[in-house]
Amino acid sequence: MSKPKQSDAVYQKCINPACAAEFDCAQVLFKCPECGELLDALYNWDKIEVPDKLNDFAERWANRDNRLDFSGVWRFRELLNFCDDKHKVTIGEGQTILQRNDAVAGYVGMKPACLYLQYEGLNPSGSFKDNGMAAAFSHAASVGAKSCACASTGNTSASVALYAHHCGLKCTVFVGSGRIAFGKLSQAMDYGALTIQVLGDFDDCMRQVQAVCSRLGLYLLNSLNPFRLEGQKTIMYRIIEALGWEVPDWIIVPGGNLGNSSAFGKAFYELKQLGLIDRIPRMAIVNSTGAATLADLVNNRKLSWNNGRVEQKIIDDYYADLAARNFSPHTCASAIEIAHPVNLKKSLRAIDICNGVVLAVTDEEICDAKAIVGKFGLGCEPASAATIAGLKHLVTDGIVDSNQRVACVLTGHLLKDPDLTVNYHKDRLGRFSNRPVEVPNDLDEIIKLIH
Ligand code: F0G
Repeated sequence: MSKPKQSDAVYQKCINPACAAEFDCAQVLFKCPECGELLDALYNWDKIEVPDKLNDFAERWANRDNRLDFSGVWRFRELLNFCDDKHKVTIGEGQTILQRNDAVAGYVGMKPACLYLQYEGLNPSGSFKDNGMAAAFSHAASVGAKSCACASTGNTSASVALYAHHCGLKCTVFVGSGRIAFGKLSQAMDYGALTIQVLGDFDDCMRQVQAVCSRLGLYLLNSLNPFRLEGQKTIMYRIIEALGWEVPDWIIVPGGNLGNSSAFGKAFYELKQLGLIDRIPRMAIVNSTGAATLADLVNNRKLSWNNGRVEQKIIDDYYADLAARNFSPHTCASAIEIAHPVNLKKSLRAIDICNGVVLAVTDEEICDAKAIVGKFGLGCEPASAATIAGLKHLVTDGIVDSNQRVACVLTGHLLKDPDLTVNYHKDRLGRFSNRPVEVPNDLDEIIKLIH
């Protein structure tokens, strides 16, 4: 096992403090080979020249002819500098915006100028995943990977397929049959991935893909990959950049496989460590009630990070209960339909770093919140709207104050799941449905209707 040299600026390290094994970045590892826990990409900051003020990053954005400066991921490259510039992959990810939205603020009970929406659906494949893939494919390039795979509830497969075809890697994606939204499935096929529909759910796919990657030596692109999470840190950099380098009071994020929440906690921890921010925002992670592992474990079974000594028995008992009930998660927010989130422990660490809270919202609340984001904002997919539904609860319960500054991460584009949207407006009739009206093919009738 090659250990990192003391002089290395970047290395991999097991998150389990009782193990704390360290590895070179050139090794392709998705779990600690010594204890099986998750790995971090870590930096010796005194060996990296990090700009001493955050504004230096923003100034790069004007260099349109420098591909790394223009990338919303790589213009922050000193904060995720795990490979040479020549291996850094970009397809224009991270050109996403933070928009103030007073109408949605009103819906959740917040004051004007307090709610901001971070539209990650504006990425090339239509979801936040591209932030992570720019980073993970750069690592794949630096280790010479030729073939890659992932399991997915849809967005990961779309993003992996897009980056793989851009980088010339063979690509296999595993999705639960009938479990992913059509927009996402169409992307994986169109970008040329071998698309394997497993007769099972996401958790089954996640197990299979790990076994396949180990057997066949494929490069795994799920968020077990520590380099992917490095890319997802940049969503937080862009939020504070858009706020003039001020840290919001709250970040609200949907919780599925828990990669984002894990990456966000790490991002803020490192910025504070570097003295680039003076305080860390609080974070709320929002599950769906149909897939509420994190909410159940944290709120009902009192699981916590506990300085890295997470009580494994609580997790094992919980999963044994799920298995005894033959439980399979179900929610209309198919992106977060996950019962065994692989980043659970890193997410507990992020909750600890950010003084975080976890809650779960119903499908009805998600669909109504999604309609509100569509009516007053730029739209989003159901999982993303869980943030708005969750925030409404947090304001009602007095956990978020109505005049605090909040940023909700809208993780995926509205067009990812057109079926759910059409169904909500046309057939199912939710609180904010906007039903299409049928008329005879007759000008007078049409004019009468519009009047
Ligand atoms: N929102 C969207 C739109 C997603 O696609 C996902 C995850 C999440 C939220 C949850 O993020 O896993 O970081 O907690 N989608 C994965 C996929 C699982 O396969 O596309 P997380």
